[in-house]
Amino acid sequence: MRVIITPDYATLSVAAAKVVAELVRRKPTAVLGLATGSTPLGLYRELIRLHRDEGLDFRRVRSFNLDEYALPPDDPNSYRRYMHENLFRHINCPDGQWKVPEGHARDLDAAAHEYEEQLREAGGIDLQVLGIGRAGHIGFAEPGSSLAGRTAVVALHPTTRADAAAAGHFPNLDAVPTRAVTMGVGTILESRACLILASGKAKATIWAQFLEGPVTAQVTASALHLHPNVVAICDEDAASCLHDREQYRNAERVLADQPLLPTAI
Ligand code: GLP
Repeated sequence: MRVIITPDYATLSVAAAKVVAELVRRKPTAVLGLATGSTPLGLYRELIRLHRDEGLDFRRVRSFNLDEYALPPDDPNSYRRYMHENLFRHINCPDGQWKVPEGHARDLDAAAHEYEEQLREAGGIDLQVLGIGRAGHIGFAEPGSSLAGRTAVVALHPTTRADAAAAGHFPNLDAVPTRAVTMGVGTILESRACLILASGKAKATIWAQFLEGPVTAQVTASALHLHPNVVAICDEDAASCLHDREQYRNAERVLADQPLLPTAI
């Protein structure tokens, strides 16, 4: 795993966008896995800037989002709406080429299964972008999820619901859905590469558990240690509980000329 510590959120966002943009330039038909939450907002802003100012072309890119609340797609809090507002309405990726799991189907299980099929038909994900929840989760693969899990309907952890309410996305805790549809850890591990991001002091404890603790279903992000191509980027605040900070810095100095993503993608 490559671990990169940046001075602040702005540099983290630019560094993450560089990884995504390099892939899209090298492989214009790249299949991206995308995440929501506040952490990737700066990455999306930078991708929009690169599209506008440098012609970064998303015309042939496809994407699959990690997860969706059990909400109608046009609900203001749906992740579909988030992706449209924060990325896709600003770039040239045609509608229909970017997908978010169906959170409001009559048969959510069947829709989750169908999502996996669509992913397989697209040839799998080249690069999966991830944030980390305070419960240590990726997507909505909450503590205790199977590390081999596939896209499925899940119950949200109380911490995750409280964080969603506290972030002001929902009027109160009761308005936060109790269920969601998410890629499983097994789905995520099949991506050809992963880019996980964390910013801010509120993530420092869980970021250290993820990077320096055991691989455990209680911190589903820790399963990324079983993946050969992971880039983990955090800012100084999120890095503040890491024991091995100097070694990560040293490794990045030594490996500065090594590509972050495998060139075979
Ligand atoms: C939710 C999302 C995750 C995200 C997490 C952290 O649980 N399903 O994909 O990583 O929130 O969000 P934030 O980046 O706002 O801290």
